Amino acid sequence: MCDHDAAMSRPAGMTRRQFIRSVIATGVVSFSVPLLPARGGAAARTAPGTVERLVTLTVNGMRRRVDVLPNETLAQTLRGKLGLTGVKVGCDRAECGACTVLVDDVPVYSCSTLTHSVLGKAILTVEGLASPGGELHPLQQGVLDEQGFQCGYCAPGFLMTALGYLKTNPDPTRQQLAHGVSGNLCRCQDYDKILTGLLRGAEYMRRG
Ligand code: FES
Repeated sequence: MCDHDAAMSRPAGMTRRQFIRSVIATGVVSFSVPLLPARGGAAARTAPGTVERLVTLTVNGMRRRVDVLPNETLAQTLRGKLGLTGVKVGCDRAECGACTVLVDDVPVYSCSTLTHSVLGKAILTVEGLASPGGELHPLQQGVLDEQGFQCGYCAPGFLMTALGYLKTNPDPTRQQLAHGVSGNLCRCQDYDKILTGLLRGAEYMRRG
């Protein structure tokens, strides 16, 4: 068997049909086997000077096994390998906030965070806000009710930043919340409606 075949072989117990479905269902692959053949076994993958590439991330309450390059950003892993395309990449240089996710409840720019630096931490993306039954998070509902955002590209980042901020200040003034989300940019300049929607969402969150 060639190296490529070895890398792409199905996990034990998975039929070919299941394997193909898992690949096309997300459009990307979250490998449950290493991308590289395990010549030399685990000892080779953890040799001095190297990092373990096959890691487990906790994303939206689920443990996800994924192959991560040493220099890979969290945005690349979440979007490209776990199919979480709600994580938007605008500037890709820590300026716009579109890529914001929560790491242990703290907003971070995922475009500028190495995936290997968040191992063992709880990662939350916009896909993890709604309930499993599809009921929107109160913050999302507030934005929806106030018709905040125009093109919506920056919306996931604003939601995640606001959620992180509200965990530290659940009942902010408009000015406080504006400062709290000041690391996020809206190319449509729709800040007034965004703030109104986020404040409505904060109100819904306080009501429970
Ligand atoms: Fe990460 Fe702009 S894409 S801050």
